[in-house]
Amino acid sequence: MKHLVSPSILTANFANLQKDIEMLNQSDADWIHVDVMDGVFVPNISFGFAIIKQIKAIAKKPLDVHLMIVDPDRYLQEFKDAGADVITVHYEACTHLNRTINKIKELGCKAGVALNPHTPVAVLDDIVDELDMVLIMSVNPGFGAQKFIANTYKKINDLVIISTIRNPSLHIEIDGGVDSNNAAKLLEAGANVLVAGNAVFSATDPNAAISHLKNIN
Ligand code: DX5
Ligand code: ZN
Repeated sequence: MKHLVSPSILTANFANLQKDIEMLNQSDADWIHVDVMDGVFVPNISFGFAIIKQIKAIAKKPLDVHLMIVDPDRYLQEFKDAGADVITVHYEACTHLNRTINKIKELGCKAGVALNPHTPVAVLDDIVDELDMVLIMSVNPGFGAQKFIANTYKKINDLVIISTIRNPSLHIEIDGGVDSNNAAKLLEAGANVLVAGNAVFSATDPNAAISHLKNIN
């Protein structure tokens, strides 16, 4: 499978989001990465349902919703209704992860689990075959434009060992500090979905930055 590119709108221009979403519609982006932060699970607050609904009304690509919130079960239905196609919850935020994943799938969304940089992939050993995606955080969640953590390559290797046997169609998404310097090495290690915020929206030509990430390999 050719890898996917999921630009993160966290670094987009919120005073003119329509322009950025229309750019993504015309670009080589596969998904649109939507970062939801609650100010509790992470030390930042981003946006919620009203904004996601407005994005959905314009977007022609699936919404890849990354929930950095505590107790996400309370809001899964609302995120589905707002337009989420992929819903990723944090391992560290879910007490009953199996139940949460089942609920996301019952809603008709793809289900992902995100791991903070310090959380080993081995914690997913008893659920990996139920998942559509694992999101490996390559920065501490909460902000865009942070420095990529190099231990991510080792985590991808660890996950590939598990997923090759248990779930070969698993999406392995990398989120945080992804750019044209590390993208090829991430893909080589086994990642197949690249999230990029700063590397896209701070580029002089965001459309070209997306194409570059898409056309590696
Ligand atoms: C960080 C978010 C990321 C962020 C990535 O908590 O989950 O999706 O937007 O941004 P960059 O690519 O700028 O690191
Ligand atoms: Zn994210």
